[in-house]
This record gives sequence, structure tokens and C-alpha cells, in this order.
Amino acid sequence: MAKKTIRTLKKMKQSGEKISVLTAYDFSFAKVIDEQDIDAILVGDSLGMVIQGHESTIPVTVEDIIYHSKAVSRACANTLLIADLPFMSYTNPKQATHNAARLMQEGAAQMVKLEGGAPQVETVSQLSHHGVPVCAHLGLQPQSVHKIGGYLVQGRDEEQAKYMIDDATALQDAGADMLVLECVPVDLAKKITDTLEIPTIGIGAGRECSGQVLVLQDMLGISSHAPKFVQNFLQEGRTIQEAIAAFNTAVKEASFPSDEQCFF
Ligand code: KIV
Repeated sequence: MAKKTIRTLKKMKQSGEKISVLTAYDFSFAKVIDEQDIDAILVGDSLGMVIQGHESTIPVTVEDIIYHSKAVSRACANTLLIADLPFMSYTNPKQATHNAARLMQEGAAQMVKLEGGAPQVETVSQLSHHGVPVCAHLGLQPQSVHKIGGYLVQGRDEEQAKYMIDDATALQDAGADMLVLECVPVDLAKKITDTLEIPTIGIGAGRECSGQVLVLQDMLGISSHAPKFVQNFLQEGRTIQEAIAAFNTAVKEASFPSDEQCFF
């Protein structure tokens, strides 16, 4: 298996092959994911909830992400490694560049992910100009949970939907290489995916995205709460390896997510 790069993922979008992504926070799980031919691993700030037991991603620090990214990177023989820039670590282009460099140099990340639309365009442009691959993140942005007032579906009204399409285009034009869409109605996610050249990775955003991402603990059924868009792949007596392989197959065949796991 050849090591996957952002080029591989962009070609997959062009050829219509779905992209599979899972989160991981340690070497052992990352190795299983890598061996099951998942396309990318995200060291997400969801670690604040599933590893550290916080109620949100807000307490997560750059040091936390680097610690987990380092461990995960030792297992990434084939998969692309993406690491989250945590809350308040990218409030301006200078700070974002400094922290993205840390994630790549100390955490061995090959791409950084950040949340936000129009206000992040300048930062994405700076990062891109400095050779940092960027995955943007629109729809539900968990780092803004207190501003939103909950983990709510985004883009349901026409005005919000239009803003999201404009934001997605502006982020791509600024140099973003990939886009996560979280908790977005199916039709809007499809429209954004069709509009953009870069791949979209959905979580609660329907089957029409270029790929799917889930939090590992959610898809193994061991999280304390499972959002509607999650499927427990560890059911039916599967091993962890088989559960991850089943997720990969379901993403590639576009049988996951089902209509019941989508927002309309
Ligand atoms: O932190 C995370 O795990 C994420 C995914 C849910 C996309 O951002």
C-alpha cells in the first residue's frame, strides 16, 4: 500500500471513490485503522470528550494534540494524518501559523484542521502560502458550542445555507485542501460537494459528501452518548478490526450513512 497524501484524496474525489476517515488518539488504535486501509486519521479535539472526559472540546490544548498526534503518527504507514488546531489556537494568521508549525514539526501531522468560514479565509491563505495543507470545517463547529447554544444542525434556513456555500467557496479559493461538513442537511452538503473541487468529508452530512468521518469511540459504541448520525460498527460479534473494516466498506459502497442517520 502506498502512503496516502492529499493528492490521493483529491484524485479520489475526481474518480468518485469515497474517502474514509476515522479519529484516533493513540498508537494501538491508529495501527489497526492504518492496517484496515482507512484513508486518513484525524487526531481530533474530540479527544477532549472521548479521552479526557470533558463536556466539550474547549479545554483541549495544542500540547494535548501534539502528544496524541505524535503517538498516532508512529502507526501511520499508509494513512494521511490530520491534526486539529484546538480552541483559541488560531485567532489570527500569525498564531495559526505558529501552532500549525508545531502540529506538523512536533506532532508529525500532514494536514491541520480548523473550524470557521469567512473569518478564517486570511488564516487559511497564510497557512497555504507557507505550505501547510488545511482541512476547513463548516456546519456545526463544536468549538463554538456555547456561542451556538448546543450541538445543533446548521444550514437549515435558506440564508444560512447560502452563507455556508459562499464560505466553502471562499475557503477553497484561499487554499483549503479539504472540507469537513458536520451536521448539515443532505441537500446542502451535496450542493457544496458539487460546487467545490476539493473533497468534502461528512459527519452527519449525508452520503453525497466525498467521504465520511466518525469518532472512533462513537463507531465502536463506547461513547456515553451517540448522535443520530453515528452507527455502531462493533455490533454482530465483530472484532475491532472487523468493525473498522465494515466502516470502510460501508463508506466505499456509500451504504453509510443511511437516511435515518441524515438530516433533511
Ligand atoms: O474533533 C473531531 O473529532 C472532529 C470530527 C468530529 C470531524 O472534528
